[in-house]
Parts: sequence; C-alpha cells; structure tokens
Amino acid sequence: MGWLLVNGQSIALNGEKSLLDVVQNAGIDLPTLCYHPELTIHGACRLCMVEVKGRGVVAACHTPPESGMVVNTNTALLRRLRKMALELLLSSHDRECTSCSRSGNCTLQGLAHRFGIRDLRFSQDDTDRLPIDRSSILVRDPNKCILCGECVRICGEVQSIGVYDFAHRGAKMQVTTAFHQELADTNCVHCGQCAAICPTGALVIKPQIQEAWNALMDESKTVIIQVAPAVRVSIGEEFGAEPGQSTMGKLISALRSLGASKVFDTGFAADLTVLEETEEFLGRIQKGEKLPQFTSCCPAWVKYAEQFYPEFLPHLSTCRSPQQMMGSLVKRYYAKASGKRPEDLYMISIMPCTAKKFEAARDEFTTLGIPDVDLVLTTQELAQMIREAGIDYTSLPETPPDRPFGFVTGAGVIFGVTGGVSEAVLRLAHERLTDTELKNAAFTEVRGYSGMRSWELELDQGTLRLGVVHGLANAKAILDDLRAGKVYFDLVEVMACPGGCIGGGGQPITNVNGQVRQERGAGLYQDDVVTAVHKSQQNRDVLNIYADWLDKPGSPMAHEFLHTTYRKRGAQWKTSGRAIGKA
Ligand code: FES
Repeated sequence: MGWLLVNGQSIALNGEKSLLDVVQNAGIDLPTLCYHPELTIHGACRLCMVEVKGRGVVAACHTPPESGMVVNTNTALLRRLRKMALELLLSSHDRECTSCSRSGNCTLQGLAHRFGIRDLRFSQDDTDRLPIDRSSILVRDPNKCILCGECVRICGEVQSIGVYDFAHRGAKMQVTTAFHQELADTNCVHCGQCAAICPTGALVIKPQIQEAWNALMDESKTVIIQVAPAVRVSIGEEFGAEPGQSTMGKLISALRSLGASKVFDTGFAADLTVLEETEEFLGRIQKGEKLPQFTSCCPAWVKYAEQFYPEFLPHLSTCRSPQQMMGSLVKRYYAKASGKRPEDLYMISIMPCTAKKFEAARDEFTTLGIPDVDLVLTTQELAQMIREAGIDYTSLPETPPDRPFGFVTGAGVIFGVTGGVSEAVLRLAHERLTDTELKNAAFTEVRGYSGMRSWELELDQGTLRLGVVHGLANAKAILDDLRAGKVYFDLVEVMACPGGCIGGGGQPITNVNGQVRQERGAGLYQDDVVTAVHKSQQNRDVLNIYADWLDKPGSPMAHEFLHTTYRKRGAQWKTSGRAIGKA
C-alpha cells in the first residue's frame, strides 16, 4: 500500500505490479505496443514511457510502482520521444496501409493517427525487404513486423511451442522461425494465436474469401454452410455489437443472403459428438483401459499431441470433431437423402478457428478425392464477405438454421467455451452411470477460466476425475504430470486457445483479452439457459439420424463415418493433406 502522484493526482497503490497498471487504473490511456496483460513483460517499444521525478524517463510497463513516486505521463519531452519512437518504427515498416488486411484495426496505424504523425522524417530503406511467407494458413510478412515480440511470447509461453524467436542484432534484428523455415515446415499447430495478438499486419490469416465467392457463384454447386457455436457470440463485434451478444439469427440470414442453399448449425454435430464420445468414454471406464480419455474436437490440440506426445494418442477420443462430423453427415447422408452426388455439394464451415482449415485438409477427411468439408472460413473472413456484399448486418431479420441439422441443444452450444465439452459429456455420462434422469443439467463446477481446472464427481459407482485445460502450455503441464504418474484423471478436455473456441485465432480482433473472452463465454452459457433442451441425448433430430442411418452410438456405421485415427507426425503440413489457398 501507499500513495503516489500521477500528473499531480494522488493515487492509492493497490498491489499493482507496474506503473503502467497504476496509470491505466487512474484512467490514463498510455500507448503500448509490446505489452500484453497475459504475457511476460518485453519492454522494447518504449511507447509507455513516463517521467518519474528523480529518475527521468522510464518504461511504465516494467517499472514497479513505489510509494511517494511523482509521475508525469504527458510532458513535452514525452510527447517528442513517443512521436520519434513511432516515426522510427514507421521508417522500417511497410506503409501499404490501404491494401493491408489490418488497416482499420492496426495498433501502429492507430497510434500514428493518435499522435498526429503526418510527415515521416526518416526515409525508408527498401533494399532490406524480406520475403513474405505464404506457405501456411497464415501470411507472415516480416516487413510489417515491429519487433514487439508478442508472437514469440504467446507461442512460447501460452502454447509451449516456440515457433518464433528473435534473430540477428541491431538494425538487422527480426522475428523469424528456426533456420528461417517457412511456417509450413515448422511445428506450428495452426492455432492462429500469433495472428490474433499481432498488433500490425505482420501475421494475418491467409484469406480464402475468393474461393468462397467462386463456389457461391458456381451454379453447378449446392453450397451448404455450417456455423460453429462460438461464432454466434463474436461476429456481431464486427458490426458494433457487444462481445457475447448472440446474433445467430442475423448470421443465418446473412449466409442465406450470400447464397447458401442450406445453413446448418455445427452445434447439432456437437450433440452427435457428445453421444459418440460418451459411449466411448463409458466403454473405456467399463474396460478400465486407455484412461484418461482426452477430448479431440480441437484440431490444434490433436496436432500438438501427434507431434509432441504421440504416446498419448491412444487416449484421444476417436471421435471426429463436430466440424468433420457435420461434413460427413452432409456428404454421406444428406447428399443421398436429397438426391445429390457428394461432389455436387460444396460444404463451407464458418469457424472461430484457423486450425480448422488444417483439419479439413487432412487426408483422412477425404473420401475418393471428395473432401467432407471443402472450405473453412474464419469469423473474420465471413465478416469481410458480409461487408463486401453490402449487407446491413444489424438490420437483418433473425432466422433459424435449416433442418435436419439445425436444431441444437444447450450442451451443443457450450462446446465453444472451455469446460463446455466436459459439461456436455457429463450431462449424458451422469445419467448413464446413475441410471437416473438429471434434473439440473448445469455442472457449474467445471466452468471457469483458470488455465487448468480439476473436479471430482462422487457417484455411488465410484469417483469420476475430470481435468480441463486451455492453452497448450497447460496441456503440456498435465501431460507431463500424467506421464510422471503425479496425477490421475478419467476425462481430460483440452482446448488449444485461451478460453476455448471463443478465443480462437479466427475470431474478430478487438483487442482480445480475458474480459472479451469471458463475455463471449457468458453469451454461450446464456444461450444454454434460454434453449428449451439442455442435453444432447434429447436432441430428437440427432436420434432420428441414428434411427435412419447410424444405428446407435458406437455402432460400426457410426465408427465408419464419425470416428477417425491419429498418427505420430513431424511438421508435415505440405504432405499431410490438401494444400489450401496457396498463393
Ligand atoms: Fe512498455 Fe512497450 S509497452 S515498452
């Protein structure tokens, strides 16, 4: 405790770790480029500088506050230094703002406007232009990199992969991959968190919008679109809605306006996943083998396990993800039911996730050369298409998705938030294990946003031990503990992205932080509350699919069309599936 002065105003200290926190809590918006509240401090950009009496100019983000400090945030010297720091960054930064996909939400561009930079005193040296890497689902343009190191830290600290690092010194310094490999040749799991956190256009999602337009304009194709649960509570942000506000009805209308023949809810396939995954889980419990069972609906996690922890692959649920189950339903079941050939149907997924692009391109999700999912667009890309088409999103009417794959229970909706898959499975597993109907379907104990959570469910039949992790560094920690025999679980849910799919790398970039993610998560839980049916086993349309086609959960038919296998792999993007959107 103690007090300090900020611009003459007395501020009580309340355990803040840095002067930046104190100043921000005092309502002053200090500019930052290399600071992120969920990462370690880098202290490189110097934009957060303040003057401290007796010490001179310091970077607020890595200066601990002390009682009695006299701090100024807006002096002539600071304004001059900040402008110069920005000008120096701009002098080595690509200035093709008009054609940059981050134009309008680029932090560097925003700060240049905010500080009134109109002339650039330092000329640009074009002789040092670096090659642009388009090998993967991301485009990495080092000419737009400002060396803030956020991609380095999120990939290393949050995802424990460490694809990027700094190389060289002085003016030659750059962020790059080991041996300057293309991203496709690294251990990248395609989670897209580096692109989500990048403050400029140095890392962006490689757009596949033109492929979507081509399909929608092709009269020989019937375009069917599926929408993942987490998109409904985030896409509205692109059109002025608050994070967490569900705009599913408008989203469905927008997709129909764009030309979709049918719009299905991926949540329907999530309900199907619950039935299959629970059947598998109960079978393993009965046999006492391959426990814990790990969830497998997150493709970045699956690739992580294949690359770094192959000995755990038998523990992953063999269920395909909801995206791929929907692809299978559409190309194998719906095509036949609607009298069409699978090759005449074009399946587009709208996902919060960049790794879903990789998943859809995996060889195992293609039958006789026909992919189950033809194209994956992120929330960001869909918003771009809606803008291009001139659709007034906020004025759209609310319309429901199409049957037979449009009805979703609350269990299917909460798949989009960390803990949601476990809770959905519990809603069925509890009934099956106790042979009694669950009156209150909400297992609030598995909810929350701490990176690693565990819970024990006491039943007459024994104790179920559940683990929930999000962020691959947390997955690594739990895998290492399991390997060392320090912990025991029956079921472990892993989501690669912080917060689960709501924090996916393809979600709108609106200074995503923990608060925004929690608001999106709250939106999904609210959808569960207002939905009439909360348990996947009560989704009548799902039960009809079994009666009509699949027989029963875990049947040979279900295994053929809804399950998959995994394999130990290196970084094999180029050889493990269809190339996507090669530029
Ligand atoms: Fe403090 Fe970059 S934000 S040095």
